[in-house]
Amino acid sequence: MTQQIFHGIRASIRSGAMKKGSRLSSWQDLAAQLGVSRGTVKRAYDLLKDEGLVETRGSAGTWVAEVAEAPRDQHGEERRAPSGLFYDFETAPQYFQLGVPAQDEFPAKAWHSAWRQAIAVEATRPQIYPDPRGLLAFRHEVAGYLASARGLNCLPRQVFITSGFTGALGIILNAMGLRGEKAFVEEPGFPRTRQALLEAGIETVPAPVDSEGIDFHWRPDVKLAVVTPGQQAPLGMTMSATRRAALLKWAAETQAWIIEDDYAGELQLSGQASPALAAADGQGRVFHIGSFSKTLNPGLRIGYIVVPVALVERYEGFVSHLAPAGPVVVQQALQAFMSGGHFYRHLRRMKKLYAERKAMLVGALRRELHPSIRCSSDGALSVRLFLPPGTDDVAIAAAAHRSRLGVLPLSEWYQGRTRPSGLLLGIANVRSRDVSAKCAALSAALNHGLG
Ligand SMILES: Cc1ncc(COP(=O)(O)O)c(C=O)c1O
Repeated sequence: MTQQIFHGIRASIRSGAMKKGSRLSSWQDLAAQLGVSRGTVKRAYDLLKDEGLVETRGSAGTWVAEVAEAPRDQHGEERRAPSGLFYDFETAPQYFQLGVPAQDEFPAKAWHSAWRQAIAVEATRPQIYPDPRGLLAFRHEVAGYLASARGLNCLPRQVFITSGFTGALGIILNAMGLRGEKAFVEEPGFPRTRQALLEAGIETVPAPVDSEGIDFHWRPDVKLAVVTPGQQAPLGMTMSATRRAALLKWAAETQAWIIEDDYAGELQLSGQASPALAAADGQGRVFHIGSFSKTLNPGLRIGYIVVPVALVERYEGFVSHLAPAGPVVVQQALQAFMSGGHFYRHLRRMKKLYAERKAMLVGALRRELHPSIRCSSDGALSVRLFLPPGTDDVAIAAAAHRSRLGVLPLSEWYQGRTRPSGLLLGIANVRSRDVSAKCAALSAALNHGLG
């Protein structure tokens, strides 16, 4: 047993899985855990010490030694994002990075207070299994919020708490058994949605987007459409009433499903916010998905699905056994934050701030970029640069990333052969103090790429 413990820990230190400076369990605790005598563990720790792999600090404990050799690229390898995501999970977002909220305007004080409240409740709550659909009080809060902010009237039992939009999508695709089917996706559209459908064994059928939103050709063999009616991702237009009616009619008549990705529905920066598509769904064909990733923090991994009434029981069974809602303390904190009115206040502030930042960015781009590069500020939380046809926007974006500018190539948002070239710039973290310098750096990357 001593040898087994010694070899196990040694291998873990050598592979870098146990990091330098991390603390080992006390030998008394590990002995109890493994069901062996304390002397057995102590002898294994002594062997590790003899090899210089661990060090003891008096009676304080045992640590992985600072000198212990770890493989060179271990951490680089672990930090590398899964393919298809360029984000670095360990550091602050890059300038212009899309999909993250303003880092300097997080409502930290109100948020802390909501968490303190939630932790106090959590510490006294019985240690029991929570509701897999999400805490009832939180689902009530979300239902109330949707009725007032998104014009969507639903019952709390239709609301299921998920791990963001991504988790919600996984639940629906699996619960509806859509493997092997076809789905309309917007062209251009969010690349990760397309990738998610492919991962789930669903063939994506691109449907072009014009100024009214998705313009699809009626196909009875397509069983799903995933759309962003509130603000099309990435072009930003709202789906018109005519297109909404056409989409709902198609779904009702062909018994297809619609997934409404309302990722930024509440952050419409100008004009009247359009209601949720699900609000007009009289036939129970629409799944409405909301997420707190854009409005608060993607790190919370919180979102929700509003499921058509007729499917509620099926979803109750599905999530209970395969995809229960995440930690209750996060839900409690969000509920306290929302019921205290902080979420609405935060949204109001963010809409104003983002509109200002977008205008500031457009101004700086017009000053710093070559006049032949047009830009559009129609996107939800992004600005789009138009590049000449055939320009390698992927290479330009890669060059910009090397200067820590998190722009995205527009062509990757297309699936078909015609892929307009452009760049998408997130506006959430643009600041007056550095916007000109960053636009100048982007201009240099562009000039280099465009020759
Ligand atoms: C179009 C679109 N949908 C959904 C999301 C949010 O996904 P999640 O809630 O999983 O963070 C994003 C975030 O970038 C997005 O751009």
